[in-house]
Amino acid sequence: MKRQWTGTALVTGASAGIGLEFARQMARRGCDVAMTARRADRLEAEAAAIRRATGRRVTTVPADLGDPDGALRLIEALDSSGVEPDYVVNNAGVGVFGAVVETPVDKLAGMLRLNMEALTVLSAEYGRRMAARGRGAILNIASTAAYQPVPYLAAYAATKAYVLHFSEAFAAELSGKGVRVFTLCPGATKSEFAEVAGAPNIEFVATSAEDCVRRALDAFDNRGIVYVDGLANLFGTYVGRFAPRPLLVRAVAAALGR
Ligand SMILES: NC(=O)c1ccc[n+]([C@@H]2O[C@H](COP(=O)([O-])OP(=O)(O)OC[C@H]3O[C@@H](n4cnc5c(N)ncnc54)[C@H](OP(=O)(O)O)[C@@H]3O)[C@@H](O)[C@H]2O)c1
Repeated sequence: MKRQWTGTALVTGASAGIGLEFARQMARRGCDVAMTARRADRLEAEAAAIRRATGRRVTTVPADLGDPDGALRLIEALDSSGVEPDYVVNNAGVGVFGAVVETPVDKLAGMLRLNMEALTVLSAEYGRRMAARGRGAILNIASTAAYQPVPYLAAYAATKAYVLHFSEAFAAELSGKGVRVFTLCPGATKSEFAEVAGAPNIEFVATSAEDCVRRALDAFDNRGIVYVDGLANLFGTYVGRFAPRPLLVRAVAAALGR
């Protein structure tokens, strides 16, 4: 029998993919949920379905976290709606596939703000409030790409290395203050990610978002700090860490180069 969760979960990037699954499954496990993303209609439709299925209180707060100040405006909006999260799932993220020099710089800058800055601002603000209350948890979504350089997803993979390192360090700072910081590193997972990134379709090797999130929440319940989803992916992170870097980078470049 699964532990019953209580309190409110804020889930970013909750209109699709892994974030939508976090919203669904955390509601099913007992949380009220605040869902945020840019597509307001889609958020509201998914929120209504979660309310019907679980009877939980589900609010939607549309926000663009790739905007400068996007995260601060989201916090203000949540404060004025009286939403104080006990769990923050920093899931919203995008990739940009292609050679760095061929990528419009505004696209790169928006990705850095979303994947790193917004996640850091939300972690810092809610981490501070949770530490003052002596309870709470922050769940940050990195990637198996955090463990190695990835040519043609170079900046994306580097943002995920940031998420992993930031989160592990932040977890240590908050230990003993009643606040947990948990990092999920998904491997290839079915979602809109590849299409949005303009990356090759990897659905044939991808796991479902539903399974990935269920395993991640179980790992969180089992007091995990970093969870790499799937044994093959876990093995891949050891290759990423211990294989000779130049060889590894050349192999990935050859696999992903166009
Ligand atoms: N799928 C994979 O294979 C995979 C593997 C490793 C890690 N991840 C990570 O998992 C997380 C979720 O990705 P996913 O696979 O579920 O992708 P997805 O299906 O494309 O979902 C991304 C979510 O982020 C939201 N989002 C995108 N840009 C945003 C912005 N500027 N402001 C606010 N919200 C924004 C999207 O909603 P709107 O468009 O409505 O804003 C959507 O809800 C990401 O951090 C990704 O890096 C995914």
